[in-house]
Amino acid sequence: MDKIINQIKLKTNMIRVPGDKSITHRSIIISAMANGQSIVRNYLQGDDCLRTKKMLEDMGVKIKQDKDTLIINGVGIDGLSQPKNVLDSGNSGTTIRLMSGIIAGQNLSAEITGDDSLSKRPMKRIIEPLSKMSVKITAANEQYLPIKITGNPDLTPVSYELPVASAQVKSCILFAGMQAMGITEITEPTETRNHTERMLQHFGVKISKTKNRISIQGPVNYNNNEITVPGDFSSAAFFIVAGLLVPDTKIKIQNVNINSTRTGLLTVLQQMGADIKIENKKNINNEPCGDIIVKTSKLKGITVSNPVLIASMIDEIPVLCLAATQATGQTIIRGAKELRVKESDRIKTITSELIKLGAKITELEDGFIIDGPSKLNGTVTNSYNDHRIAMTLAIAGLVSEGRLTIQNSDCVAISFPSFWDYFDIK
Ligand code: S3P
Repeated sequence: MDKIINQIKLKTNMIRVPGDKSITHRSIIISAMANGQSIVRNYLQGDDCLRTKKMLEDMGVKIKQDKDTLIINGVGIDGLSQPKNVLDSGNSGTTIRLMSGIIAGQNLSAEITGDDSLSKRPMKRIIEPLSKMSVKITAANEQYLPIKITGNPDLTPVSYELPVASAQVKSCILFAGMQAMGITEITEPTETRNHTERMLQHFGVKISKTKNRISIQGPVNYNNNEITVPGDFSSAAFFIVAGLLVPDTKIKIQNVNINSTRTGLLTVLQQMGADIKIENKKNINNEPCGDIIVKTSKLKGITVSNPVLIASMIDEIPVLCLAATQATGQTIIRGAKELRVKESDRIKTITSELIKLGAKITELEDGFIIDGPSKLNGTVTNSYNDHRIAMTLAIAGLVSEGRLTIQNSDCVAISFPSFWDYFDIK
């Protein structure tokens, strides 16, 4: 559905973003493979996480829902059963990549499909390591959906160097490794989000980590636990940028996960001159959290190419591009080629949509050059069914003049179903 926006204003400056998408996926999966009943509070009820939940239910896991709480009856590390139908990952790359690692060691075979966007995304990155672990796994054109996996209860542990910095691939191998007999070792080119490691530790599973090398001794056997999912930094990012760009604004976003493998955007914005503070820091289930307070700020252009920083802000780069259109001077973002294989080719989609609004932004193979500040004018834009592009365009609507239309705006439900409730759309 299209969202036609004449004037878009934030309704409130107290924001509560939904539960973290990455942590919700992991909490459902890790609870499902535990012994006994786990409780997951404040889980993200977005389409992607519901795919993970449904996929596990299709393989025999009993999950009860009570409002935003899930009660998950773990089946134990080898307890999934043969699915009756083809499994559907929808739009969710995290579901297919993480669940493939789980299915790898189970005594079952499965076929997994997904929507048009997911069908274009690369799966060789999981097929290669899983094949090395003696899993029979095939894909259309060796790379794309549907993929077919025959699990192997006798998995071979592997020592694997990730060719791309990807937390999804790392987690896939860790999930397979926790079922293999022996030590599985993964080396990352750059540290990526570490929620899988932290949550497995929260459930009592031993993970060793030295610099960029992570290892797990399988097979593991662990018991149920409780998790409260903190707010999603990637969802907070839209309101952080809104707070900075809209004149005379102060926004507080409560209870957000501030794991440093996710918050590169904060570092970059602060270097650009942003007034952002974190209060009320605490630890929830082995994850750091806090309230983020943002005030309108004058931003200046910056060059970002450090791989660690890029990995820790990979999902926030579209909204950073918007911030850069309002900063004084030039912003250069390099080393972000992975954006081309997200829910859309985000280098292409955000460039084309911001140009429509009047921004000066040039697409590079692995990033962008943005010259600011530019006056933005509302026009007809398209999300390309990519939730993070739709939400970036909504924030652009807060600082654009005139009417801004966002075609295919319903996709925000992937990660932030209540997103539009924060806006006063006239
Ligand atoms: C995710 C990892 C990232 C990120 C995605 C969620 C995860 O993808 O872009 O939104 O939960 O592990 P990659 O691992 O492909 O970089």
